[in-house]
Amino acid sequence: MIPVIAIDGPAASGKGTLARRIAAHYGLRHLDTGLTYRAVAHALVATGKPLDDEAEAVAAAERLDLSAMDRTVLAAHAVGEAASKVAVMPAVRRALVERQRRFAETPPGAVLDGRDIGTVVCPDATAKLYVTASPEVRAKRRYHEILAGGGVADEAAILADIQKRDARDMGRADSPLRPAIDAHLLDTSDMTIETAFQAARAKIDRA
Ligand code: DC
Repeated sequence: MIPVIAIDGPAASGKGTLARRIAAHYGLRHLDTGLTYRAVAHALVATGKPLDDEAEAVAAAERLDLSAMDRTVLAAHAVGEAASKVAVMPAVRRALVERQRRFAETPPGAVLDGRDIGTVVCPDATAKLYVTASPEVRAKRRYHEILAGGGVADEAAILADIQKRDARDMGRADSPLRPAIDAHLLDTSDMTIETAFQAARAKIDRA
């Protein structure tokens, strides 16, 4: 069986950083599935199409090159907001989930992080983690990340954004964000990245 590790969690929970470390540790490929939704949203905006144009969004999802997604361009806050809107359309999800599954099934195996990996994309994953932290802690981390990058930020505005994004991701009808029934919960509110990685490793090694 090809090993697949599913890592889900809300925005700014630290799941991406954790997923990259886990992939490197176990020698697996890594896919940040949030980037796939971001890339579709970005393609719509770049061609002047509305974010609810389902046919265009599906076409963008089908021609997406997973190996050529530009993390720097797609990291913009506005792209994340747009992605969260594109992600409510079931046909877009179907198209992207199929691409994500194919990635997961390719040797030597993979770590996928997102919102619905353990519940929908890879329900038979070898190990599933659900990574959370309180909204206040996530806002504080994002705030310090922006300051460290030389930017300016308003922590209260970041917190409000995170809460709005959580509500959209958890409240949508198709594949809402929620822990899979067999997921290991990892609350990183009081953990450093290193502690979170060690805790995740312990859970994966027992899976
Ligand atoms: O993880 P992220 O912030 O890059 O994700 C951007 C948006 O994409 C997120 O708000 C919801 C959507 N998304 C999703 O619906 N399913 C996934 N597996 C990953 C992301």
